Amino acid sequence: MASIVYSNGRYLPRHQAQTSVFDRAHLFADGIYEVIWVANRALVDWQDHHTRLLSSLAAVSLSIPWSPAVLRTLIFEVIRKNNLNNGFVYLQINRKHSYTRDHRITTTEKGGRPALMISAHHAPPPQCQPLKVITLPDERWRHCDIKSTALIKAVLSKQQAQQQGAHEAWFFDKDTQAITEGASCNAWMVTHNGTLCTHPADNRILHGVARQTLLKLCQRHKLPVQEQAFTLDALRNAREVFLTSTTLFVSPVSHIDDVAVGNGKVGETTQRLFDAYLHHCYPSSSSPDSHA
Ligand code: PDD
Repeated sequence: MASIVYSNGRYLPRHQAQTSVFDRAHLFADGIYEVIWVANRALVDWQDHHTRLLSSLAAVSLSIPWSPAVLRTLIFEVIRKNNLNNGFVYLQINRKHSYTRDHRITTTEKGGRPALMISAHHAPPPQCQPLKVITLPDERWRHCDIKSTALIKAVLSKQQAQQQGAHEAWFFDKDTQAITEGASCNAWMVTHNGTLCTHPADNRILHGVARQTLLKLCQRHKLPVQEQAFTLDALRNAREVFLTSTTLFVSPVSHIDDVAVGNGKVGETTQRLFDAYLHHCYPSSSSPDSHA
């Protein structure tokens, strides 16, 4: 079945969903996006994604005419039309296209209806499988809390990770050696005394929805957490290391720059949190419907 994309008021087969070459997302990456997990046809943490969407839009002075209810209805229609049981929806909003290439935001663009695109992506829920990570200096801008479509650094870093046989690249601050986050995930470690650490939710990281959910789950499971930056050295000496994201849930990290973390196996805390997170997404049954 051809996948159906919502694009500016129409549901179209994906090859027919096209935009102008003067689209500001195309010219300037002048857009905001969200990735939301779909579990047995339900949206996971929709409220948190919507709140972050509004905050990112406000940060780039983009206002939208759609209420949360309308956005939700459009998303569910994309889910229905694509028969999406498990996977994720991608939602992108960008400023109206310009008629010439001008960085400045003209009055028409300010007043115009932004472009809205929603697509569906079939995927089974991730397994609790160890992943390898490389580390790179964080050379990104200082507004990583904005979920902007300007992702070239993430693209190049993930490409480099793949070339080095790893799944992800994690960034560290060149001056302090503090780990900020991954190219498309949040970074966590467990110290030898069992304390979980993750970078504070400031402008150096994306305030991950999975990160936020996991903080609540840690509280429920009475696991001590410090929202405090940890260094590359501390990471190398950690008992357990894992990442969080909408699409990878809670995924264990087995190697940092080719050096094994602990014994290289999935740690007890990571496994426990993976199970808790999976249950958060699939509360009624521990196993998701078989077909993605
Ligand atoms: N990435 N940090 C960065 C830089 C990210 O791009 C992401 C998500 C996260 C985790 O955020 P969340 O828990 O809300 O997924 C952290 C998405 C999945 C992506 O770009 O595909």
